Amino acid sequence: MPDTGRSVHAIPITLEAAHSSAQYEVLVGAGLLSGCAERLSRACPAHRYAIISDDRVQPLYASVLRENLAADGMQSDVFTFPAGEEHKTRATWAAVTDAMLAAGLGRDTAVVALGGGVVGDLAGFVAATYMRGLPVAQVPTTLLAMIDASVGGKTAVDTPAGKNLVGAFHQPAVVLADPTVLRTLPDEHFRSGLAEAVKHGAIADSDHLAWIAAATTSLLSGDSDALVELIVRSVQIKADFVSRDERETGPRKALNFGHTIGHAVEAVSGFRLLHGEAVAIGMAVEASIGEAIGVTRHGTAARLREILLHIGLPVAVPPELSREEILRSTRTDKKARAGRVEYALIEELGQAGAEGSWGYAVEDEVVRGVLGDGAPTSD
Ligand SMILES: NC(=O)c1ccc[n+]([C@@H]2O[C@H](COP(=O)([O-])OP(=O)(O)OC[C@H]3O[C@@H](n4cnc5c(N)ncnc54)[C@H](O)[C@@H]3O)[C@@H](O)[C@H]2O)c1
Ligand SMILES: [Zn+2]
Repeated sequence: MPDTGRSVHAIPITLEAAHSSAQYEVLVGAGLLSGCAERLSRACPAHRYAIISDDRVQPLYASVLRENLAADGMQSDVFTFPAGEEHKTRATWAAVTDAMLAAGLGRDTAVVALGGGVVGDLAGFVAATYMRGLPVAQVPTTLLAMIDASVGGKTAVDTPAGKNLVGAFHQPAVVLADPTVLRTLPDEHFRSGLAEAVKHGAIADSDHLAWIAAATTSLLSGDSDALVELIVRSVQIKADFVSRDERETGPRKALNFGHTIGHAVEAVSGFRLLHGEAVAIGMAVEASIGEAIGVTRHGTAARLREILLHIGLPVAVPPELSREEILRSTRTDKKARAGRVEYALIEELGQAGAEGSWGYAVEDEVVRGVLGDGAPTSD
């Protein structure tokens, strides 16, 4: 039985940017999915709902959503594409929008993105562009999507030249995060999502970080209360950074902690590592880089590694990955400016951006020194 009687937490998101402003809520609650029609119709009233999902999530959760909408007299259509990052493409965008056109969906439609970050990004981009823009409700089904991808309004598809290179900012009308759906999520994807929660703690809240370390067993066993607590605090942290800086010129950069090395390691591994696994390695390495240049308090990297290892995440660059290729890859990252690569570092656990510095240009030599010939040591 769905436990809809439990409380629902609402995290308000307010964004004020030069060309857009938005206000919406991220709702977090166990059992939320099975009572969502009213919330959907209130946040994004529409004549029809286009549920966009992938072929793993659709068989698990689309019918709950559709039956719920139907019970409230709301019409919906489901559009499904094959699961996986390799399908977050313009071709899939074209296929989905063509199918929506063929189904006769007009401007009075709202999109419901039901899935992980891949679905959220693709469906969000469909919503941003279909008939010059439809409202979108994000219904994230991975931990990563709940605490990261569905908050902040970034939507995109990948191109052969790189990930997320074609997209738009398009804020959702509402985000519905029901942690009970995480019970079917493969374990490695769950741990990978936890890496982003660790990041949120590391940049903004050492208590949250300590709580994650203490609650790891409950979280991994799918305890609903622990999951709600995790998601609510992580979303608050991300929302806080995003609200202060929608387009990533200042505070939002802190969310890139672990991502300069993380993206490079992910790419050089040929995407064999999951994003969160690469970010875990990235955070461990970048904490050491911070210590090497005197930005990060000594001992931070060791404690961070300890927490990540406890969760079951990797903290060292796999020995078979070329250090030089990783360095080369950091230079092609969007954060590279004027020859030196910019890193979002933390000063200590729970703190980034002290004294207004959100990015530090780091010389390759320093990074080379930390990467060494093999895995960084656990000093
Ligand atoms: N827009 C943003 O701000 C932002 C932020 C971070 C990441 N992203 C994007 O998110 C994507 C990664 O997202 P992800 O890690 O959620 O991957 P994903 O969407 O590929 O999901 C991982 C796998 O789990 C399956 N799945 C999803 N929910 C499930 C469930 N409840 N039960 C069983 N299986 C389930 C999916 O079908 C997929 O096979 C990347 O494309 C990344 O670029 C976007
Ligand atoms: Zn990330």
